[in-house]
Amino acid sequence: MSIPFSAEGAAGTFRPDLFAGQTVFITGGTSGIGAATAQYFHMLGANVVAAGLAAIAAPIEQSERLKIIELDVTDRTELEGAIKALPQLDHLILCAGISLNSDELEIDSFRRVLEVNLVSGMTAAMAAAPRLIRQGGSIVTVASMYAYFGASERPAYAASKGGVIQLTKSLAQLFAKDGVRVNSVAPGWIETPLAKNLDTKTKGVIMQRIPAARWGASEEVAAVIAFLCSPAASYLTGATLPVDGGYLTS
Ligand code: NAI
Repeated sequence: MSIPFSAEGAAGTFRPDLFAGQTVFITGGTSGIGAATAQYFHMLGANVVAAGLAAIAAPIEQSERLKIIELDVTDRTELEGAIKALPQLDHLILCAGISLNSDELEIDSFRRVLEVNLVSGMTAAMAAAPRLIRQGGSIVTVASMYAYFGASERPAYAASKGGVIQLTKSLAQLFAKDGVRVNSVAPGWIETPLAKNLDTKTKGVIMQRIPAARWGASEEVAAVIAFLCSPAASYLTGATLPVDGGYLTS
């Protein structure tokens, strides 16, 4: 079945200059969903900073309005410095994430996943707050289906993603009076390098439970992130939107 969407479709859904003159900072912008989101905002006119590991191998092209930077979100000084160096910030997208699978049963790995997936989000949000407040901007976090159910083989990933949803609600409350909205997307099963972790048998079981009968594309998550940052979502804050082809309904 073909995906009824393409990256070029952005302009078919949104005004091509929707984010012109705005700056978007994306953690985890060097691969998968984050890279697609960087490209998507770029197509809609934004100045984009895509930050993450292995920047040199990012599947997107650097341009005048799209900067790709090497950044480890667990390095607090580096993360805060990159955000505070921006002359302007309108939208912060917190997409950096890892899973260490069953290694997460070991406490150092558990802690590492929490640092990347959850703690870095809080660090980035607090560093970005003054700039976002000045612009009346927004934050979008990236949760997961694992925010809704436990996972014996990846307890840190599930705990971190549950935490991401609660952090989203807390920051939404904190910044609402300042005109900054904070929302989350919970992607279902999206074809990215991260998903390559799963074995064929697990992938088969997952497919059986997706009403849309296909995995999602990174651009389909990027489009929902763009909506959450757009004026169309002006009264939406603290929400988590599943982007899952109906997975949660089954
Ligand atoms: P990916 O592996 O393609 O991308 C992960 C990104 O996070 C990369 O840019 C990587 O450099 C960055 N990252 C990892 N550790 C970092 C660190 N210490 N410092 C800075 N950046 C770091 O994975 P994918 O699938 O694009 O995941 C993006 C987000 O979406 C993650 O938060 C993931 O948990 C979430 N997600 C993905 C799903 C999927 O099916 N692919 C489903 C649900 C959620």
